[in-house]
Amino acid sequence: MKKIISLVLVALLACSCVLGLTACGGSAEKKELHMATNAFFEPYEYYEGKEVVGIDAEIAQAICDKLGYELVIDDMDFDSIITAVTSGKADFGMAGMTVTDERKESVDFTDSYTTATQVIIVPEKDSKVNNADDLEKAAIGVQLGTTGDIYVSDLKDAKIERFNKGADAVLALTQGKVDAVVIDSEPAKAFVNQNEGIKILDDPFADEDYAICLAKGSELTEKFNEALKELKEDGTIDKINAKYIGD
Ligand code: ARG
Repeated sequence: MKKIISLVLVALLACSCVLGLTACGGSAEKKELHMATNAFFEPYEYYEGKEVVGIDAEIAQAICDKLGYELVIDDMDFDSIITAVTSGKADFGMAGMTVTDERKESVDFTDSYTTATQVIIVPEKDSKVNNADDLEKAAIGVQLGTTGDIYVSDLKDAKIERFNKGADAVLALTQGKVDAVVIDSEPAKAFVNQNEGIKILDDPFADEDYAICLAKGSELTEKFNEALKELKEDGTIDKINAKYIGD
């Protein structure tokens, strides 16, 4: 009898230990969601010290807070993001990414969380390019794999230089190595503010919608859409945009 009682006691002790440990572990760590991005795209994602900040980083954080996940941001080349998502290395991609039919063939997109335009950056003085038609025969810098790249790739006589970072395309422009850069409007403003002697042409080149991409059929897409809807309705998204862009 004594033996049985002590066995039961030992068993109970072991159980409570295990339970205690898992309960501790469980409450300490939330499940992680990995966001694939390219963090050289101010104001959507960029480094402040070692931390990635920006509109996308904050919206992603707000979504993860709502859904009870811990956000982990994985920085990579822009043209690796979709593969990271389709291969399951990342849970979602968010990078000022434009919804396109071609991308929809490999990933699902959430509802759009903001609109943007593609614009043309040129030298302030003696620019060869003064409107979209002038791009036909120009040397154009773009970020590899972006919609800017896709649009200008249709121009037969243009010479396209593709860079891993938008900043490198802008550097080539300031050095006179290309005549123009085609890139998203808000990052373009940031680049023009940071570099002397370049400007944005008045007429935008194309209108776009930004959204978050997820693996095809992902159960998260609907949850993300619900979270986005709430964040739109309660003014959080407007607040985040205003913080980085102004009204
Ligand atoms: N909106 C463009 C696209 O989807 C450019 C996005 C580039 N984003 C970035 N984080 N570098 O192709």
